[in-house]
Amino acid sequence: MIDTHAHIDDPQYQEGFDAFIRQQQAAGVERIIVPGISAASIEPVRKVCLAYPDYLVPGIGLHPEEVKDGWREELETLYRELCAHTDFYKAIGEIGLDYYWDKTYKAEQQEVLRTQLRWAAEHDLPVIIHNREATEDIVRILREAQVEHQHALRGVFHCFTGSRETAQQILDMGFYLGIGGVLTFKNSKLGLTLADLPLERLVLETDSPYMAPVPYRGQRNESRYMIEVVRMLAEVYKVSPEEVNRVTTHNANELFRLK
Ligand code: NI
Repeated sequence: MIDTHAHIDDPQYQEGFDAFIRQQQAAGVERIIVPGISAASIEPVRKVCLAYPDYLVPGIGLHPEEVKDGWREELETLYRELCAHTDFYKAIGEIGLDYYWDKTYKAEQQEVLRTQLRWAAEHDLPVIIHNREATEDIVRILREAQVEHQHALRGVFHCFTGSRETAQQILDMGFYLGIGGVLTFKNSKLGLTLADLPLERLVLETDSPYMAPVPYRGQRNESRYMIEVVRMLAEVYKVSPEEVNRVTTHNANELFRLK
């Protein structure tokens, strides 16, 4: 299993961090991608990833909820960091649009997204997309960016929970769907949506510390809990958990070029 999205730079993981990592490894978690969300997260992400260079994989980016008045300076800081450590970062993310909490900076969020898509094309890195109530704008901006950058963009829609139609739009752009704990929630329709979509286009994730799967729902999430998501996917696709594991691990290795 590869966890393509875990905020384990979060302070709540730092006590007993080494033991925590050993537990994930013992449970069969092969790698964990740690996305950045802001200039302030550069240092914590660097710190944990430098401690486990072959295991924790860093991303860098400005999350849409972090787009506030100082966004230009923050982008400059992030871009400087990216260019200073081009071999270190394996993804641009978490980036995207979020209209759920606050639409004040809607135009700025779009500008910030476009800029970071340019970085991804320039540095040949995948993007980790956060989308909340902004599907139409994200798909439009990504399609425009694909044309602008000669279809060089690749990436994942993290925590995908959308419709069949949205899924198809995402797959048509060559992107992957990030599937996590939501799949195990009692009222989730996600399994039905996924059933007709290729397993070859899914990657696993947790969104730790959030989105813990059943039976851990509400607790601090951990990458090893993805086994619950794997079991559910095995039911959806009528294959063995081992096969889900094999295919999704392959997908993550391809997308993030981990091998
Ligand atoms: Ni996230």
